[in-house]
Amino acid sequence: MRPKKFSQGVLPLLAGSLLFSCSLPCSAQVEGVTPDSSAPPGKCGNEEILDIGSGKCRRCASNLMKSPDGLRCVCAPGPSPRPPPVDCRDCNTFPLRTLWETLFLDSSFLACNNTCNEAACQMLTNMVTLQAFSLQNRAYDLYTKTKSPDLPQLWYSRSETSFPRVSFGRNSQIRLKATKYDARGNFLGWEDVSGETLQLCPGSQNVLNAAFMFGTSYNRSCSLDISRLLQRDPEPTFYELFLQYDDEKGNAQWWPVPVENPAITTSSSASLSSWAFRRFFLVDGLSGRKHNLTDPPETVTLAAGLILSVYLPTSNPGNQPPFLLTVEYVQRSNPGIVQASFSVTYIQSPGTAQQTTDISFGVFSSLAVLYSLLKVSSWARRSRLQNINLMIIVKFFAYLAGSLANVFFLITLGIGIYWLIVFKGQQHSTVEVTLPPAGGPIETRFIIYVLCGLVLKSFGPCAFC
Ligand SMILES: *[C@@H]1O[C@H](CO)[C@@H](O)[C@H](O)[C@H]1NC(C)=O
Ligand SMILES: *[C@@H]1O[C@H](CO)[C@@H](O)[C@H](O)[C@H]1NC(C)=O
Ligand SMILES: *[C@@H]1O[C@H](CO)[C@@H](O)[C@H](O)[C@H]1NC(C)=O
Repeated sequence: MRPKKFSQGVLPLLAGSLLFSCSLPCSAQVEGVTPDSSAPPGKCGNEEILDIGSGKCRRCASNLMKSPDGLRCVCAPGPSPRPPPVDCRDCNTFPLRTLWETLFLDSSFLACNNTCNEAACQMLTNMVTLQAFSLQNRAYDLYTKTKSPDLPQLWYSRSETSFPRVSFGRNSQIRLKATKYDARGNFLGWEDVSGETLQLCPGSQNVLNAAFMFGTSYNRSCSLDISRLLQRDPEPTFYELFLQYDDEKGNAQWWPVPVENPAITTSSSASLSSWAFRRFFLVDGLSGRKHNLTDPPETVTLAAGLILSVYLPTSNPGNQPPFLLTVEYVQRSNPGIVQASFSVTYIQSPGTAQQTTDISFGVFSSLAVLYSLLKVSSWARRSRLQNINLMIIVKFFAYLAGSLANVFFLITLGIGIYWLIVFKGQQHSTVEVTLPPAGGPIETRFIIYVLCGLVLKSFGPCAFC
């Protein structure tokens, strides 16, 4: 793991020195605010749910009640619930894959579809989430056939919530919250995501918490004994992730973080790459149990790679969500050893800045060559030199080095001003305070330009020899 921060990079120094009065515009909004640890249900009244899309609390209609996680209205059990039909052999043609499915898939589908049973709908959704590699199976097919207002959404819909406007100052935390469900569909509560909540690799609380310091590129990986993982998570826990932020009025809001699973395939021709899930799990030791649910699993599916990507827009953000969680599932036999990692990466869209820089280089360099030719020819005339000799060539290169050094300095100044403007004018960004990541290509190029300028400048005095 190699935590790096923007604030240690070269560009912040430059931006700071260019405009000494430049204070971080956004830090003031975040610093000093103590993190609000109250979960969304705590924000609303006892009978109210939080509508994540609008950020408002509202009451459920009379025949509905608040769901355990406080985000939806679900059906209220009536006086005499109809018993579900017991047989589902003809529900679809896909086979049952695991002992867990054989015991509970059809019954949870029937209970969710035909009676008022919120937990059964959660259980069915969790069984679909366990299908880490393909959606061509009985669980997903039954999920799509279920008609119930209680059925939790599997997919993240982009139209549902607009991207939040989030500001991050120096040393501010990325505040994430998760709702947790167990495999049987019981709600386990809201949890503040910190340290080891999502990280399988062990470590001290401080080291693990560094992952959520905004601006810190983080990657921690390790080899793990699968039997140890099963002690931590004997049965899978299902998470949905929310970013907590403050809106313009300073009220805490929550934004659901989309979850991508690059390994999954589906039958439909529509590519899944543009779709995102809501739910994920870390360790599944349930699907691999054969013969008896008390037996240890023969195989384990786990989220071996978790990558939290943060997109830093330099102009109006397109439809790129500001936060995205990528979950890379792998299946391993038990017992065994597995490699796991957790990382946080910052991705900046460079926009057209690099192209503009290249064009400026072309134009200014040609001007530098012309200018050096002019200077050397006027020097030659003054010195009454008739033929091109070594002295003239040396003089020319010395002039050229001096002019090119100026070009490099001019362009680094331009880049600095560009970032300053981007930094100051982030009216439309979803994630504010953006400077190129330290050690990233933009900063590396910038350092190279400055070094070239300095080296070329040191040839300059030759022009006077
Ligand atoms: C699921 O529910 C719908 C509507 O309530 C019903 O028409 C359908 O028959 C149910 N499916 C099964 C397999 O019970
Ligand atoms: C994190 O480190 C591991 C091992 O060094 C590597 O396999 C993985 O690709 C890295 N992840 C990211 C996002 O850089
Ligand atoms: C599963 O194992 C338990 C305890 O070992 C036993 O009581 C139970 O009968 C077994 N169930 C089946 C279906 O074999």
